[in-house]
Amino acid sequence: MKLELQRLIKRFGTHTVLDGIDLALEDVHCLALIGPSGGGKSTLLRLVAGLEYPSAGTVSLNGAQIDYTDEALLRHRRSIGTVFQAYNLFPHLTALRNITLPLEVVHGRSAEDARDLARATLDRFQLLAHAHKRPAELSGGQRQRVAIARAIAIKPQVVLLDEPTSALDPEMTAEVLELIEELKNEGRDLLLVTHEMGFARHVADRVALLAEGRIAEFGPPEQLFAAPESDATRAFLRRVLKY
Ligand SMILES: Nc1ncnc2c1ncn2[C@@H]1O[C@H](COP(=O)(O)OP(=O)(O)O)[C@@H](O)[C@H]1O
Ligand SMILES: [Mg+2]
Repeated sequence: MKLELQRLIKRFGTHTVLDGIDLALEDVHCLALIGPSGGGKSTLLRLVAGLEYPSAGTVSLNGAQIDYTDEALLRHRRSIGTVFQAYNLFPHLTALRNITLPLEVVHGRSAEDARDLARATLDRFQLLAHAHKRPAELSGGQRQRVAIARAIAIKPQVVLLDEPTSALDPEMTAEVLELIEELKNEGRDLLLVTHEMGFARHVADRVALLAEGRIAEFGPPEQLFAAPESDATRAFLRRVLKY
């Protein structure tokens, strides 16, 4: 993916959450966004997804500047796959229907086409046996895998994942991280907010540390984790790697 943020500012009322972010990257397949809670990671992801408007500045994805007018945003959102921490799925619908519904309603696929695509995607993630189950009948890990399958089924230009494992126990975390790594290996473009430092180090080709609304550090994981250059990164890593 190619991503360019220029002087990006986001305020909620008088609270400045993103304080003039500049970032330019190209040929990155997995960008991990890390940093302290409240630092603006989710807000940045939502701006890239077109779910929030910037207060100032621009975002360009794969060479096209995101147009934050209502009509253009609807189109932009359709080109992005998003997976959040939890509660991604409609609780009253089966896994299969959770995938076919957006394909039909948002992407204009016929019922038959949507069903074929949804089944193929579930099959691809070894989830076909669960197609008829509702979220409550699935484990947390299976739920997140279905949510990722749904994000992939729309053939997005990039998949945004916001702490996709933070509501899961370690075993379920592992099955979801394995799936994310597979996506990366397939050549999908991912923008991942995560607290799993070991995973970020392993899977990301670039890492950005966001703290107090600014990018405190950006670089390849080997460098950022082994020889952090900024005080904010050192303080953050000391805290999260302590136990
Ligand atoms: N819709 C909103 N309205 C007001 N404040 C918000 C909103 N969304 C986020 N914030 C505030 O923005 C700050 C950054 O939040 P967030 O982007 O969720 O950080 P992170 O994901 O890094 O924990 C927090 O102080 C949060 O309370
Ligand atoms: Mg967040």
